[in-house]
Amino acid sequence: MAKNVLITGGSRGIGKAIAERLNAEADFLKIYAPSSKELDQSFEASIESFKEKAELNNDPLYGLIVNAGIHHSEHFEDYSVKNWNRVIDVNLNGAFYIIKHFIENLKLHGERNQGDYPRIILSSSVSAYTGEQYAPAYAASKAGLIALAKSLALEFAKYKITVNCVCPGWVKTYMALKQMGNDSEAVKNNLGATLQDRWIEAEELAETYLYLLSGGAKAITGQQINVTAGLDL
Ligand SMILES: NC(=O)c1ccc[n+]([C@@H]2O[C@H](COP(=O)([O-])OP(=O)(O)OC[C@H]3O[C@@H](n4cnc5c(N)ncnc54)[C@H](OP(=O)(O)O)[C@@H]3O)[C@@H](O)[C@H]2O)c1
Repeated sequence: MAKNVLITGGSRGIGKAIAERLNAEADFLKIYAPSSKELDQSFEASIESFKEKAELNNDPLYGLIVNAGIHHSEHFEDYSVKNWNRVIDVNLNGAFYIIKHFIENLKLHGERNQGDYPRIILSSSVSAYTGEQYAPAYAASKAGLIALAKSLALEFAKYKITVNCVCPGWVKTYMALKQMGNDSEAVKNNLGATLQDRWIEAEELAETYLYLLSGGAKAITGQQINVTAGLDL
């Protein structure tokens, strides 16, 4: 059975690791993992143009992984409206745009493959429920994704489409390393706050996405899966 999956933010980090993991599975036919240049999820025109170039207008989609995200850290008094809007635009509004543009493709897969339960997975964050000092827009956008997933899980149940969030802790990617400023003391302190005192590797996290795409996960909907190495305890 042809299973196509689209992953936003597929050029590096978690998105790239998910794409590589799925490519190793025979179950998946086409894995689309565009960079932000190919598909900027904060601009509807870019989504439309990607759809046309990838000839995805009338293709069924089994999995939609809304993973692209940006982070901005600054003291609240200095936090500009522009930076606030940019983070919300990419992380939260972008998820809305992407789902809006691909819901028909997901429905099509479900209609052609009854009982398959097409999947939407959103990359949220532990910050959604712990909050994040100096990153209010990021934490708010990630909390918004959890509410979006629950709301759409309720609405899309009639199409037999599931919607879930993955909430990671510290994953060793460009984003997390930039947040810690390549400062070994900051790395030590942040990882020390986890129960396992370690990074989560992107390849390791990709297994959670693979599970949520598996047949065994079709009853999971409207949930958040926390993969934090114990950061939230
Ligand atoms: N790393 C962590 O510790 C961590 C923890 C919790 C949650 N997360 C979440 O996991 C997701 C992936 O993060 P990551 O750690 O892999 O970060 P990353 O290494 O910085 O990768 C981010 C990806 O998002 C893409 N992107 C950025 N802006 C975009 C836009 N407007 N439209 C489309 N794509 C865009 C980037 O594409 P380009 O390279 O083309 O710019 C890149 O592929 C994010 O949503 C992040 O918030 C990460």
